[in-house]
Amino acid sequence: MCELPVERDENLIVGIETSDDAAVYKINDTTAIIQTVDFFTPVVDDPYIFGQIAAANSLSDVYAMGADPKLAMNIVCFPKNLSQEKIKGILKGGYDKVKEAGALIVGGHTIEDDEPKFGLTVTGFMHPDDVVTNCNAKVGDVLILTKPLGVGIINTAIKADMVDDETYKKAIKIMMTLNKFAKDAMMKVGIHSCTDVTGFGLLGHGLEMAEGSDVTLKFNSQDIPIIKEALSLADMGIIPAGAYSNRCFIGTKVSFGENVSQQLSDCLYDPQTSGGLLISVAKEKEDVLLKALAGSSTEYAVIGEVIQKQKHMIIVE
Ligand code: CO
Ligand code: CO
Ligand code: CO
Repeated sequence: MCELPVERDENLIVGIETSDDAAVYKINDTTAIIQTVDFFTPVVDDPYIFGQIAAANSLSDVYAMGADPKLAMNIVCFPKNLSQEKIKGILKGGYDKVKEAGALIVGGHTIEDDEPKFGLTVTGFMHPDDVVTNCNAKVGDVLILTKPLGVGIINTAIKADMVDDETYKKAIKIMMTLNKFAKDAMMKVGIHSCTDVTGFGLLGHGLEMAEGSDVTLKFNSQDIPIIKEALSLADMGIIPAGAYSNRCFIGTKVSFGENVSQQLSDCLYDPQTSGGLLISVAKEKEDVLLKALAGSSTEYAVIGEVIQKQKHMIIVE
């Protein structure tokens, strides 16, 4: 896309330039439309669980902009030999998750493909003044992450049959959790900036926020919630290919303190499926946001702060 000219329109509030989670277009003074699309190959064998995870992941980009999803459409690719039962399971998972989000599935498109894939296009509406972008973090803000990291590593281990039942259940619960609760909390409190942590990992999506906001993000590695089994799997070399490409892509824009272990940095580069929200909030609102997040069904924590732009866009200590 970067080789094609960027189209402009005065009502386009968020376009392609800032690598944000969704596009936002102002319809009139009180309504903006939010649009996004996401789909991928199965991360787990269970069709119903995969459907829920894929839907939660697709819906997340609308939550990350501060909106509630309203309309969704299925995108389904399936091989000839995939049973009807399995396709029904995936679609039921998607349907149930969209229903939980309070949105409607209003159509979709299905094609035959060698590998199954599922996801949604999602549309939401909100007041144009309330739109939350990934490029408005302010110096002095604190950074909050609303789900633990490590599901990419665990998904890789699931495929190699190296994960016990308890860890599997922990990971799918995190991936199936909607970011709705976290979105409601941040919108109630009022925050500066947000993005969801997905394929580029905490550091990749953090870098988009840092560059878009012209600041440096400083993370305290010891405070970052990480699924503990992901750390030991990383230690054994169970790391998804995406983590290596994220490390390569981010390159020298991040600096690590001496006490940050290799396994820990692997988890920070780990591509997340249906990850949590990375929120930048004014220091004086930290306590009220943490209070609003209490009762969340996933682990959340203050993981760092926003500082003046340094040589490195991200500092991990
Ligand atoms: Co965003
Ligand atoms: Co996103
Ligand atoms: Co996305």
